[in-house]
Amino acid sequence: MGVLSVTGIGTELLDQPDADPVVVAESLRNIARANRWFGGAAAVRYGLARMLEPMQRGSTLSLLDLGTGTGRILEVLAGRYERGLGLDVNQSMLAYARSKLKTAGLNHAEVRHGDIYNVALPDGAADAVVIHQVLHYAHSPAAAIDEASRVLAPGGRLLIVDFAAHEREELRATDAHIRLGFDDETMAAWFKAAGISVEQVEHLEGGELTVTLWLGAKAGVRQRQRRAA
Ligand SMILES: C[S@@+](CC[C@H](N)C(=O)[O-])C[C@H]1O[C@@H](n2cnc3c(N)ncnc32)[C@H](O)[C@@H]1O
Repeated sequence: MGVLSVTGIGTELLDQPDADPVVVAESLRNIARANRWFGGAAAVRYGLARMLEPMQRGSTLSLLDLGTGTGRILEVLAGRYERGLGLDVNQSMLAYARSKLKTAGLNHAEVRHGDIYNVALPDGAADAVVIHQVLHYAHSPAAAIDEASRVLAPGGRLLIVDFAAHEREELRATDAHIRLGFDDETMAAWFKAAGISVEQVEHLEGGELTVTLWLGAKAGVRQRQRRAA
């Protein structure tokens, strides 16, 4: 079967003894497709790590991963936050993510059921929010970005990773994509409307689809940095 030739992020799914085979098969299919489109997971790992660096300097970091799926981003970034929380509407994915985080000994990360449009956290609860490969499934990305901004602390960072605008119409039918990627201008307008200024944009080319990382900062000064100063 094709899934056995998968490489990169996600091959660890194969090693989980108690994983739901249906969830694993679906995840592996997604990962195989994603690796093809991304031109390799290593570039995404590298891009994520580098763009999160400015958030870490001199302070603790609570990271919120919206649409966490199998908790892959919490795992990839585990060394870069002190407290991690992943939210997702898919209970099977969450069950799998829980088992994976436990097996990996990542006690500083947890996952919960939650909707990206209505996050059950108070205003300003997170130092950083990541939305990784979720918004192309979203009916209202702007509303999701607004909600991400609400839960971000002043000075906190929002990192969105998704496809750059493309014309692969067939992905609507084959992969339930609602949006065919995003152009930088549209994303910048949504950031601005949510009170977030764009700090850095990076395009990772080389796959069938280009992946873009948009990093923004919410207006204000982070409390922890001020106290530490
Ligand atoms: C392609 S997966 C990406 C998972 C993860 N971010 C990653 O990159 O490995 C998209 C995820 O978004 C979740 N999702 C979609 N709409 C959502 C919503 N309204 N609230 C929370 N999660 C949502 C799906 O359940 C799915 O797990």
